[in-house]
Parts: sequence; structure tokens; C-alpha cells
Amino acid sequence: MNITVLYGTESGNSELIAEDLGAKLRETHENVDVFDLRDFEPAELSAEKFYIVVCSTHGEGDLPNTALPFAERFDENPPALEGLRYAMFGLGDSFYDTYSQGSEQLDRRFAERGATRVGEYGRHDASSWDLPSDIALEWLPGVIVAAGL
Ligand SMILES: Cc1cc2nc3c(=O)[nH]c(=O)nc-3n(C[C@H](O)[C@H](O)[C@H](O)COP(=O)(O)O)c2cc1C
Repeated sequence: MNITVLYGTESGNSELIAEDLGAKLRETHENVDVFDLRDFEPAELSAEKFYIVVCSTHGEGDLPNTALPFAERFDENPPALEGLRYAMFGLGDSFYDTYSQGSEQLDRRFAERGATRVGEYGRHDASSWDLPSDIALEWLPGVIVAAGL
């Protein structure tokens, strides 16, 4: 199954994670794409593919810059996502009350349109000592198993 990794970022951490996940997936899978959400149309979402969404949080629990246009286009013309499966990895900082809520905004949108989240909800906390990609690469195998990829 084709895998598309989508990321929304403001300062680059989510992009780094998405590229590292994409590189790891390409070791074992063909047809792995990585896109910035800014360059991805909601209408392109397809149940024929599996999606991994990586998204940070900015402002006060808001979406990061590159996810904003995607969310606007999504809301203007909500796609039908029945049968689509995806995994979610959120970045944030537990210093904030709004910890990791940027990714949750996307997760809500996907769920409301009928998509199904697979595997554990991945998270990276900028207040921890953990490197974002280390946490994401530890999280990935569970998703691959849960999704049967
Ligand atoms: C100005 C600013 C506001 C932030 N607001 C939040 C927030 O409301 N909630 C949260 O969990 N993290 C917040 N963060 C933390 C970021 O989500 C975290 O640093 C993340 O790793 C950034 O990923 P990115 O480089 O992909 O944007 C904020 C960071 C900055 C610099």
C-alpha cells in the first residue's frame, strides 16, 4: 500500500521527523511520499493510501503555519474520508496547557469526515530530553504492525 507522510510545521521539527519516517519506510516499502501540508490538497486524500500525519502546535494550541492553508481548504470543502486510515504524531511542549493540540485539530477533522486512526497516538514533548526523531522512529513499528503495512 502506498504511504504518504504529511507534515505541518513552523520551525522545522515536524519536517525533520517526517523526512526521517519517510527514509525509514523506504527501506522496506515502495511508493513512500513526504509532503508539507502547505503543498497538499485535502481533495487528494484517498482511501487507497495510508497516511502518517506529523504536526506541531503553535500560538495557543493552534496549528503551525504550514498546516493552516490545508485546514482552511479542508473546512471550505470537507473531503469524504470513509475507509481512509491514518496515524497521527503530534509535537508540542507540556509547558503549555494546550499541549499537542495542533495535531489534535487535524485529528478531529479527519475523524469527523469518517477516517480511522490506527496505532497509538504518537507525541513528542519539547520539554523532554528526547530527540523528536528518536521518539517518532520508536513509535513507527507499532503503527506498521497495527496498520498491517
Ligand atoms: C511561539 C510558540 C508557541 C507554542 N505553543 C505551543 C502550544 O500552545 N502547545 C504546545 O503543546 N506546544 C507549543 N509550542 C511548542 C512547539 O509545538 C514545539 O516546539 C514543536 O517541537 C515545534 O515543532 P515545529 O518545529 O515542527 O513547528 C510552541 C512553540 C512556540 C515557539
